[in-house]
Amino acid sequence: MTDLAVDLPGVTVSNLEALGLLIEPAAPGQDPRRLPVDALRELARRHHLLLLRGFASFAGPAELTAWSESWGEIMMWPFGAVLELIEAEAPADHIFDHSYVPLHWDGMYRPYIPEFQVFHCVSAPGGGQGGATTFCDSAKLLAHTDGATFDRWSRIEVTYRIPNLSHYGGKAVSPLIVPHPRTSEATLRYNEPPRADDDSFLNRPEHEFAGLPAEEVPALLTELHAATHDPRWYYEHSWQQGDLVIADNYTLLHGRTAFTHRAPRHIRRVHVLGEPPLRNPASPSEERAENR
Ligand SMILES: [Fe+2]
Repeated sequence: MTDLAVDLPGVTVSNLEALGLLIEPAAPGQDPRRLPVDALRELARRHHLLLLRGFASFAGPAELTAWSESWGEIMMWPFGAVLELIEAEAPADHIFDHSYVPLHWDGMYRPYIPEFQVFHCVSAPGGGQGGATTFCDSAKLLAHTDGATFDRWSRIEVTYRIPNLSHYGGKAVSPLIVPHPRTSEATLRYNEPPRADDDSFLNRPEHEFAGLPAEEVPALLTELHAATHDPRWYYEHSWQQGDLVIADNYTLLHGRTAFTHRAPRHIRRVHVLGEPPLRNPASPSEERAENR
């Protein structure tokens, strides 16, 4: 139990394994809209991930959008507020494939970075079929990183480029370590490259590393993979139908494990901006203007 559980009457609050909180209703099927969003937002900022499980499910995207609006201003995309994450018939980008998705932060190519992601599981892929959403608490990781490594990582800047084949793309330039916009705590902003041996990965981003000799890049990638996937701050969320997950996109990195082709995985996602909205420091200004 957390000290903030008192602000959420009628629910049980417990810690998830590596990060975040599990919030369950005392009686199954309770309407999640009855929970006080101010208290939930405070918990999400403090614990970085909330899993609401066992509550009544939203009927459709309009209900999810309306609830997300109570969290803050919604970040709109060309497709609207709700991204329907479902395997496409003929995907052009890995997001709509059934492949794994490397760790990244959302909005990295957009004019603004959302503070929260609100996920709703419409349909789970089913036991043993993969399709977990992966999360790394980068603040916790960096708090446990030794000084010499931290200093070395602090000098690194990464340039990312990816063709826009679905709803995102362009160029982003970011230091590896960036202060959290609200707390100034050190966070990692990193889009892990897809595995070199995975020929089937769709729409592979390009990476350019500055601040270290080129011959040291392969060792850095290995080091960052091990650090971000350390079970002390890395969590793979196996979806159950009706799950609501709120994730702190300022602090966490996230991705996905591969899933069985045609498994019935359907997740809806809405982005909520911070207050004030965070202008994307990784987006070059000339591309910001284009992307508006
Ligand atoms: Fe994402």
